Amino acid sequence: MVSRELTLARHPQGRLAVECFAIVERELGPIQNGQVLVRNLWTSVDASVLLRLRELGPEGYLPPFALGQPLIGLAVGEVCESRSPELAAGDLVTHIYGFRDYALVRPGGETLAGVGSLRRIRRDIGAPEDYLGALGHTGITAYVGLIAVAGLSPGDIVWVSAAAGGTGSVAAQIAKLRGHVVIGSAGSDDKVDYLLNELGLDAAFNYHHGDLRSLLRGSAPHGIDVYYDNVGGGHLEAALYELRNHGRVALCGAISGYDGEQTVGPRNMFQVVVKNLTLRGFRAGAHARLEDEAMQVIGEWLRQGQLKVRSTIYEGLERAPEAIVGLARGANIGKTLVRSIVT
Ligand SMILES: NC(=O)c1ccc[n+]([C@@H]2O[C@H](COP(=O)([O-])OP(=O)(O)OC[C@H]3O[C@@H](n4cnc5c(N)ncnc54)[C@H](OP(=O)(O)O)[C@@H]3O)[C@@H](O)[C@H]2O)c1
Repeated sequence: MVSRELTLARHPQGRLAVECFAIVERELGPIQNGQVLVRNLWTSVDASVLLRLRELGPEGYLPPFALGQPLIGLAVGEVCESRSPELAAGDLVTHIYGFRDYALVRPGGETLAGVGSLRRIRRDIGAPEDYLGALGHTGITAYVGLIAVAGLSPGDIVWVSAAAGGTGSVAAQIAKLRGHVVIGSAGSDDKVDYLLNELGLDAAFNYHHGDLRSLLRGSAPHGIDVYYDNVGGGHLEAALYELRNHGRVALCGAISGYDGEQTVGPRNMFQVVVKNLTLRGFRAGAHARLEDEAMQVIGEWLRQGQLKVRSTIYEGLERAPEAIVGLARGANIGKTLVRSIVT
Protein backbone atom coordinates (compact mmCIF):
# COMPACT_ATOMS: atom_id res chain seq x y z
CA MET A 1 0.00 0.00 0.00
CA VAL A 2 1.22 3.50 -0.84
CA SER A 3 0.95 6.18 1.85
CA ARG A 4 1.80 9.87 1.66
CA GLU A 5 3.93 11.32 4.43
CA LEU A 6 5.29 14.71 5.42
CA THR A 7 9.07 14.92 5.42
CA LEU A 8 11.62 17.55 6.31
CA ALA A 9 13.12 18.66 2.99
CA ARG A 10 15.58 21.19 4.42
CA HIS A 11 16.41 22.65 7.78
CA PRO A 12 15.06 26.14 8.44
CA GLN A 13 17.53 28.95 7.84
CA GLY A 14 16.29 31.81 9.97
CA ARG A 15 12.54 31.57 10.36
CA LEU A 16 10.64 28.44 9.43
CA ALA A 17 9.00 28.38 5.97
CA VAL A 18 6.62 25.96 4.24
CA GLU A 19 9.40 25.23 1.72
CA CYS A 20 11.20 23.29 4.46
CA PHE A 21 8.71 20.44 4.00
CA ALA A 22 7.80 17.97 1.27
CA ILE A 23 5.12 15.35 0.87
CA VAL A 24 6.38 12.07 -0.50
CA GLU A 25 4.79 8.71 -1.26
CA ARG A 26 6.13 5.57 0.32
CA GLU A 27 5.28 1.87 0.04
CA LEU A 28 4.22 0.78 3.52
CA GLY A 29 5.08 -2.89 3.24
CA PRO A 30 2.98 -5.77 4.52
CA ILE A 31 1.45 -5.72 7.98
CA GLN A 32 3.41 -7.87 10.45
CA ASN A 33 2.12 -10.03 13.27
CA GLY A 34 1.45 -7.83 16.32
CA GLN A 35 0.89 -4.70 14.21
CA VAL A 36 -2.22 -2.74 13.25
CA LEU A 37 -2.71 -0.71 10.09
CA VAL A 38 -4.13 2.70 11.02
CA ARG A 39 -5.72 5.24 8.70
CA ASN A 40 -5.01 8.60 10.29
CA LEU A 41 -7.90 10.97 10.84
CA TRP A 42 -6.26 13.81 12.79
CA THR A 43 -2.70 14.92 13.50
CA SER A 44 -1.84 17.17 16.40
CA VAL A 45 0.45 20.08 15.56
CA ASP A 46 2.49 20.70 18.69
CA ALA A 47 5.12 23.29 19.46
CA SER A 48 7.56 20.45 20.15
CA VAL A 49 7.71 19.78 16.40
CA LEU A 50 9.40 23.16 15.93
CA LEU A 51 12.26 22.08 18.18
CA ARG A 52 12.95 19.05 16.01
CA LEU A 53 13.28 20.79 12.65
CA ARG A 54 16.70 22.37 13.18
CA GLU A 55 19.93 20.54 12.61
CA LEU A 56 20.75 20.80 16.29
CA GLY A 57 17.93 20.60 18.80
CA PRO A 58 18.05 21.30 22.53
CA GLU A 59 20.39 18.90 24.29
CA GLY A 60 18.61 15.96 25.89
CA TYR A 61 15.32 16.67 24.10
CA LEU A 62 13.61 14.58 21.43
CA PRO A 63 16.12 14.17 18.58
CA PRO A 64 15.99 16.37 15.47
CA PHE A 65 14.18 14.93 12.42
CA ALA A 66 16.53 13.66 9.75
CA LEU A 67 16.22 15.15 6.28
CA GLY A 68 13.92 13.03 4.12
CA GLN A 69 12.46 11.15 7.06
CA PRO A 70 8.77 11.41 7.91
CA LEU A 71 7.82 13.71 10.76
CA ILE A 72 6.30 12.16 13.86
CA GLY A 73 3.41 13.63 15.80
CA LEU A 74 0.50 12.56 17.96
CA ALA A 75 -2.43 11.33 15.89
CA VAL A 76 -5.88 9.79 16.07
CA GLY A 77 -6.77 7.18 13.50
CA GLU A 78 -8.98 4.23 12.77
CA VAL A 79 -7.67 0.67 12.72
CA CYS A 80 -8.24 -0.74 9.21
CA GLU A 81 -6.63 -4.11 9.78
CA SER A 82 -5.36 -5.76 12.93
CA ARG A 83 -2.80 -8.47 13.55
CA SER A 84 -2.79 -7.63 17.26
CA PRO A 85 -5.05 -9.38 19.76
CA GLU A 86 -5.40 -6.07 21.62
CA LEU A 87 -7.15 -4.14 18.87
CA ALA A 88 -9.75 -4.73 16.18
CA ALA A 89 -10.65 -3.14 12.86
CA GLY A 90 -12.84 -0.12 13.49
CA ASP A 91 -11.16 0.83 16.80
CA LEU A 92 -10.20 4.47 17.17
CA VAL A 93 -6.66 4.81 18.49
CA THR A 94 -4.06 7.40 19.41
CA HIS A 95 -0.42 6.88 18.46
CA ILE A 96 2.66 8.87 17.42
CA TYR A 97 2.79 8.36 13.65
CA GLY A 98 0.88 11.40 12.50
CA PHE A 99 1.77 13.54 9.46
CA ARG A 100 1.03 10.62 7.10
CA ASP A 101 -2.02 8.93 5.60
CA TYR A 102 -1.47 5.44 7.02
CA ALA A 103 0.79 3.94 9.67
CA LEU A 104 1.75 0.47 10.81
CA VAL A 105 1.82 0.58 14.60
CA ARG A 106 2.46 -1.96 17.32
CA PRO A 107 1.20 -1.92 20.95
CA GLY A 108 4.12 -1.27 23.28
CA GLY A 109 6.13 0.34 20.47
CA GLU A 110 7.95 3.68 20.23
CA THR A 111 6.68 6.74 22.16
CA LEU A 112 7.57 10.42 22.40
CA ALA A 113 9.39 10.37 25.73
CA GLY A 114 6.67 8.21 27.25
CA VAL A 115 3.81 9.95 25.48
CA GLY A 116 1.58 8.57 22.72
CA SER A 117 1.73 4.79 23.07
CA LEU A 118 -0.82 3.03 20.86
CA ARG A 119 -4.09 3.14 22.74
CA ARG A 120 -7.78 2.66 22.02
CA ILE A 121 -9.78 5.80 22.79
CA ARG A 122 -13.23 6.02 24.25
CA ARG A 123 -15.92 7.50 22.07
CA ASP A 124 -18.29 8.70 24.74
CA ILE A 125 -16.70 11.86 26.14
CA GLY A 126 -15.56 13.99 23.25
CA ALA A 127 -14.99 13.98 19.51
CA PRO A 128 -11.98 11.92 18.28
CA GLU A 129 -9.89 15.06 17.81
CA ASP A 130 -10.46 16.09 21.45
CA TYR A 131 -8.13 13.22 22.36
CA LEU A 132 -5.34 15.28 20.85
CA GLY A 133 -6.45 18.40 22.70
CA ALA A 134 -8.18 18.82 26.05
CA LEU A 135 -8.64 15.05 26.49
CA GLY A 136 -5.11 14.24 25.37
CA HIS A 137 -1.53 15.29 25.89
CA THR A 138 -2.41 18.99 25.67
CA GLY A 139 -4.95 18.78 28.48
CA ILE A 140 -2.75 16.56 30.61
CA THR A 141 0.12 19.04 30.24
CA ALA A 142 -2.05 21.94 31.36
CA TYR A 143 -3.44 19.99 34.33
CA VAL A 144 -0.11 18.62 35.50
CA GLY A 145 1.59 21.99 35.14
CA LEU A 146 -0.91 23.77 37.31
CA ILE A 147 -1.73 21.12 39.88
CA ALA A 148 1.45 19.10 40.37
CA VAL A 149 4.13 21.54 39.25
CA ALA A 150 2.84 24.95 40.32
CA GLY A 151 0.92 23.54 43.29
CA LEU A 152 -2.12 25.69 42.61
CA SER A 153 -3.61 26.74 45.97
CA PRO A 154 -6.80 28.58 46.92
CA GLY A 155 -6.52 32.32 46.35
CA ASP A 156 -3.63 32.14 43.87
CA ILE A 157 -3.69 34.75 41.12
CA VAL A 158 -2.55 33.02 37.92
CA TRP A 159 -0.97 34.31 34.72
CA VAL A 160 -0.95 32.03 31.67
CA SER A 161 1.08 33.09 28.62
CA ALA A 162 0.24 31.96 25.07
CA ALA A 163 -3.16 31.61 26.71
CA ALA A 164 -5.12 31.42 23.45
CA GLY A 165 -3.08 28.43 22.22
CA GLY A 166 -3.71 24.73 22.71
CA THR A 167 -2.03 24.22 26.07
CA GLY A 168 -2.59 27.76 27.34
CA SER A 169 -6.33 27.81 26.66
CA VAL A 170 -6.84 24.63 28.67
CA ALA A 171 -4.54 25.80 31.49
CA ALA A 172 -6.32 29.14 31.74
CA GLN A 173 -9.71 27.43 31.87
CA ILE A 174 -8.60 24.89 34.48
CA ALA A 175 -7.41 27.70 36.74
CA LYS A 176 -10.64 29.62 36.15
CA LEU A 177 -12.82 26.56 36.82
CA ARG A 178 -10.98 26.05 40.09
CA GLY A 179 -11.99 29.54 41.15
CA HIS A 180 -8.82 31.53 40.55
CA VAL A 181 -8.34 35.02 39.22
CA VAL A 182 -6.74 34.34 35.84
CA ILE A 183 -4.85 36.66 33.52
CA GLY A 184 -4.08 35.57 29.99
CA SER A 185 -1.73 37.04 27.41
CA ALA A 186 -1.60 36.50 23.68
CA GLY A 187 -0.32 38.05 20.47
CA SER A 188 -3.42 39.62 18.91
CA ASP A 189 -6.49 41.62 19.87
CA ASP A 190 -8.76 38.86 18.52
CA LYS A 191 -7.11 36.43 20.90
CA VAL A 192 -7.52 38.85 23.80
CA ASP A 193 -11.21 39.08 22.88
CA TYR A 194 -11.41 35.26 22.88
CA LEU A 195 -9.76 35.07 26.31
CA LEU A 196 -12.06 37.63 27.84
CA ASN A 197 -15.35 36.93 26.12
CA GLU A 198 -15.26 33.22 25.32
CA LEU A 199 -13.10 31.83 28.10
CA GLY A 200 -14.20 34.40 30.69
CA LEU A 201 -10.75 35.26 32.03
CA ASP A 202 -10.53 38.11 34.49
CA ALA A 203 -8.02 40.11 32.46
CA ALA A 204 -6.03 39.68 29.27
CA PHE A 205 -3.51 41.66 27.24
CA ASN A 206 -1.83 41.67 23.85
CA TYR A 207 1.90 41.44 24.53
CA HIS A 208 2.67 43.44 21.37
CA HIS A 209 1.03 46.50 22.91
CA GLY A 210 3.94 47.77 24.99
CA ASP A 211 6.34 46.86 27.72
CA LEU A 212 5.50 43.40 29.08
CA ARG A 213 6.00 44.21 32.72
CA SER A 214 3.72 47.26 32.52
CA LEU A 215 1.11 45.28 30.61
CA LEU A 216 1.18 42.51 33.19
CA ARG A 217 0.98 44.98 36.05
CA GLY A 218 -1.97 46.68 34.36
CA SER A 219 -3.82 43.35 34.28
CA ALA A 220 -2.65 42.15 37.70
CA PRO A 221 -2.21 45.26 39.85
CA HIS A 222 -1.82 43.15 43.03
CA GLY A 223 0.81 40.84 41.49
CA ILE A 224 0.60 37.13 40.67
CA ASP A 225 1.22 33.94 42.64
CA VAL A 226 1.52 31.45 39.79
CA TYR A 227 2.94 31.90 36.31
CA TYR A 228 2.23 29.15 33.76
CA ASP A 229 5.05 29.80 31.31
CA ASN A 230 4.62 28.74 27.70
CA VAL A 231 6.87 31.47 26.29
CA GLY A 232 10.08 32.02 28.29
CA GLY A 233 12.45 34.96 27.65
CA GLY A 234 10.93 38.38 28.29
CA HIS A 235 7.64 36.87 29.48
CA LEU A 236 9.41 34.97 32.24
CA GLU A 237 11.38 38.07 33.15
CA ALA A 238 8.18 40.09 33.55
CA ALA A 239 6.69 37.32 35.69
CA LEU A 240 9.67 37.26 38.04
CA TYR A 241 9.15 40.97 38.70
CA GLU A 242 5.43 40.66 39.29
CA LEU A 243 5.34 37.41 41.28
CA ARG A 244 4.56 37.81 44.97
CA ASN A 245 6.47 36.27 47.85
CA HIS A 246 6.51 32.44 47.57
CA GLY A 247 5.26 32.62 43.98
CA ARG A 248 5.64 29.59 41.70
CA VAL A 249 6.40 29.19 38.04
CA ALA A 250 5.51 26.10 36.01
CA LEU A 251 8.03 26.13 33.17
CA CYS A 252 6.04 24.38 30.45
CA GLY A 253 7.87 25.69 27.39
CA ALA A 254 9.73 28.63 25.91
CA ILE A 255 8.23 29.10 22.47
CA SER A 256 9.71 32.57 22.00
CA GLY A 257 12.98 30.75 21.23
CA TYR A 258 11.69 27.96 18.98
CA ASP A 259 11.63 29.68 15.61
CA GLY A 260 15.14 30.87 15.00
CA GLU A 261 15.22 33.74 17.46
CA GLN A 262 17.70 33.75 20.33
CA THR A 263 15.74 34.55 23.46
CA VAL A 264 17.33 36.68 26.11
CA GLY A 265 16.63 36.44 29.76
CA PRO A 266 15.36 36.35 32.27
CA ARG A 267 17.97 38.87 33.37
CA ASN A 268 16.47 39.30 36.83
CA MET A 269 17.02 35.87 38.37
CA PHE A 270 17.86 37.49 41.70
CA GLN A 271 14.12 38.08 42.10
CA VAL A 272 13.88 34.34 42.74
CA VAL A 273 16.01 34.81 45.85
CA VAL A 274 14.41 38.05 46.93
CA LYS A 275 10.88 36.64 46.87
CA ASN A 276 11.43 32.97 47.73
CA LEU A 277 10.17 31.92 44.31
CA THR A 278 10.06 28.38 42.96
CA LEU A 279 10.71 27.80 39.26
CA ARG A 280 10.02 24.25 38.19
CA GLY A 281 10.35 22.80 34.72
CA PHE A 282 8.39 19.76 33.67
CA ARG A 283 7.54 17.41 30.88
CA ALA A 284 4.03 16.06 31.06
CA GLY A 285 5.27 12.54 30.25
CA ALA A 286 7.06 12.49 33.60
CA HIS A 287 3.73 12.83 35.42
CA ALA A 288 1.95 9.85 33.89
CA ARG A 289 0.49 8.91 37.26
CA LEU A 290 -1.80 11.95 37.02
CA GLU A 291 -3.13 11.10 33.55
CA ASP A 292 -6.26 9.28 34.68
CA GLU A 293 -7.11 11.97 37.20
CA ALA A 294 -6.58 14.71 34.61
CA MET A 295 -8.77 12.93 32.07
CA GLN A 296 -11.50 12.36 34.60
CA VAL A 297 -11.59 15.97 35.76
CA ILE A 298 -11.28 17.51 32.29
CA GLY A 299 -13.73 14.97 30.84
CA GLU A 300 -16.33 15.94 33.41
CA TRP A 301 -15.90 19.65 32.66
CA LEU A 302 -16.22 18.90 28.96
CA ARG A 303 -19.34 16.81 29.47
CA GLN A 304 -20.91 19.61 31.46
CA GLY A 305 -19.96 22.17 28.82
CA GLN A 306 -17.86 24.10 31.34
CA LEU A 307 -14.57 23.67 29.51
CA LYS A 308 -14.65 24.96 25.97
CA VAL A 309 -12.60 23.53 23.15
CA ARG A 310 -11.65 25.43 20.07
CA SER A 311 -9.36 24.28 17.27
CA THR A 312 -7.68 25.71 14.24
CA ILE A 313 -8.07 23.04 11.60
CA TYR A 314 -6.06 22.62 8.40
CA GLU A 315 -7.74 20.34 5.88
CA GLY A 316 -5.53 17.70 4.28
CA LEU A 317 -1.94 16.54 4.74
CA GLU A 318 -0.82 18.97 2.05
CA ARG A 319 -1.68 21.81 4.43
CA ALA A 320 0.42 20.41 7.30
CA PRO A 321 3.40 22.69 6.48
CA GLU A 322 1.10 25.71 6.69
CA ALA A 323 -0.23 24.41 10.02
CA ILE A 324 3.27 24.06 11.50
CA VAL A 325 4.40 27.48 10.29
CA GLY A 326 1.07 28.93 11.44
CA LEU A 327 1.60 27.62 14.97
CA ALA A 328 5.05 29.20 15.12
CA ARG A 329 3.60 32.55 13.96
CA GLY A 330 0.57 32.48 16.25
CA ALA A 331 -2.02 31.95 13.49
CA ASN A 332 -3.92 29.50 15.69
CA ILE A 333 -6.59 29.91 18.30
CA GLY A 334 -6.85 26.82 20.49
CA LYS A 335 -5.48 23.48 19.38
CA THR A 336 -3.87 23.23 15.93
CA LEU A 337 -4.92 20.14 14.00
CA VAL A 338 -4.50 18.65 10.56
CA ARG A 339 -7.50 16.67 9.37
CA SER A 340 -6.73 13.84 6.98
CA ILE A 341 -8.92 13.60 3.94
CA VAL A 342 -8.01 10.13 2.75
CA THR A 343 -10.84 7.81 1.74
N1 LIG B 1 6.31 20.53 29.01
C1 LIG B 1 5.50 19.78 28.29
O1 LIG B 1 5.33 18.58 28.53
C2 LIG B 1 4.76 20.42 27.15
C3 LIG B 1 3.77 19.73 26.45
C4 LIG B 1 3.06 20.40 25.45
C5 LIG B 1 3.37 21.74 25.15
N2 LIG B 1 4.36 22.34 25.85
C6 LIG B 1 4.71 23.74 25.61
O2 LIG B 1 3.52 24.50 25.65
C7 LIG B 1 3.68 25.66 24.85
C8 LIG B 1 2.49 25.77 23.90
O3 LIG B 1 2.54 24.68 23.01
P1 LIG B 1 1.28 24.27 22.10
O4 LIG B 1 1.71 23.09 21.33
O5 LIG B 1 0.05 24.22 22.94
O6 LIG B 1 1.19 25.48 21.09
P2 LIG B 1 0.10 26.66 21.00
O7 LIG B 1 0.12 27.39 22.30
O8 LIG B 1 -1.17 26.13 20.50
O9 LIG B 1 0.72 27.55 19.85
C9 LIG B 1 1.88 28.27 20.09
C10 LIG B 1 1.54 29.74 20.43
O10 LIG B 1 2.71 30.36 20.91
C11 LIG B 1 2.61 31.74 20.70
N3 LIG B 1 3.91 32.29 20.31
C12 LIG B 1 4.65 31.98 19.22
N4 LIG B 1 5.78 32.71 19.20
C13 LIG B 1 5.75 33.50 20.31
C14 LIG B 1 6.61 34.50 20.85
N5 LIG B 1 7.77 34.82 20.26
N6 LIG B 1 6.23 35.12 21.99
C15 LIG B 1 5.06 34.81 22.61
N7 LIG B 1 4.20 33.87 22.13
C16 LIG B 1 4.54 33.24 21.02
C17 LIG B 1 1.59 31.95 19.57
O11 LIG B 1 0.48 32.67 20.07
P3 LIG B 1 0.47 34.29 20.19
O12 LIG B 1 -0.34 34.77 19.04
O13 LIG B 1 -0.18 34.49 21.49
O14 LIG B 1 1.88 34.77 20.11
C18 LIG B 1 1.15 30.54 19.21
O15 LIG B 1 -0.24 30.45 18.97
C19 LIG B 1 5.03 25.52 24.14
O16 LIG B 1 6.00 26.25 24.84
C20 LIG B 1 5.31 24.03 24.25
O17 LIG B 1 6.68 23.73 24.18
C21 LIG B 1 5.06 21.71 26.82
